[in-house]
Amino acid sequence: MRNVSDALTPEVWQPLLTSGSYGRKCVIYHPVTGSTNTDCAALGTSGAEDGALVIAEKQTAGRGRMDRSWFSPAGCGIWSSVLIRRDLPLTAAPQLSFCAALAWTDTLESLCGIRAGLKWPNDVILEGRKICGILCTCTAAEDRLAYAVLGSGFNVLRGAYPPELREKAIALEETVSPPPRAELLAEYLRQLESRVDCLEKDGFTALRPVLERRCVNLGKPVRISGGQQLSGLATGLDDTGALLVQKEDGSTEAVLCGDVSVRGVMGYV
Ligand code: BTN
Repeated sequence: MRNVSDALTPEVWQPLLTSGSYGRKCVIYHPVTGSTNTDCAALGTSGAEDGALVIAEKQTAGRGRMDRSWFSPAGCGIWSSVLIRRDLPLTAAPQLSFCAALAWTDTLESLCGIRAGLKWPNDVILEGRKICGILCTCTAAEDRLAYAVLGSGFNVLRGAYPPELREKAIALEETVSPPPRAELLAEYLRQLESRVDCLEKDGFTALRPVLERRCVNLGKPVRISGGQQLSGLATGLDDTGALLVQKEDGSTEAVLCGDVSVRGVMGYV
């Protein structure tokens, strides 16, 4: 392995970028910030280009899905937000989250040789616990996407999550000796751009089979909460990426968003 410092300052990881443009253009690095998603949304409002990146060593007001907070201590994870400004319909917003989640699973496979899964809609799962969460917020221009902020929190060191989440969360160092965060970030940016290129060019149908292969929900009993409430068997994804759940009465419902518990994953028995 190359001798790479573990700081996330752009001078450290930019030389590791092998292809693509993400991470080469507008990059804002903060030792400490409130939330990289908030900072990145401000870049969106001010007209910054596709691929603009905000990265922080530590967040003091990190945000998660469903209005939760996201623990983001200094140096323990990769807390980043990428601005997406592409020609996409508004319905592509959840699909961008899939792109980020797949980019992280591909990064783990290529740099660490380990296979992570996805818990629909967008948690990255390693050994049954969550290693990364994605938060995507969108701004619309009629029925098109004006821009989206694609934030991800990836746990590298044990201190990345609070002790009370030990049953549900995991950090990379609990499985392998982690590569420097700089290498992980550079690879993630490359993988993300290639997934977003594919989504813009070919639409969701191109991503769907890859996603289905990674999805830990499929074929398992699931319980949906937060918004729609239902339980049943997750049977697949529809053309938009909604989760298809077969209920006890035999009918199938397409779930667009929500919190999903999957038996056997993240402490759900
Ligand atoms: C989830 O609830 O699983 C989503 C967590 C997303 C956390 C990341 S950390 C970087 C970015 N900035 C934030 O405030 N949130 C996202």
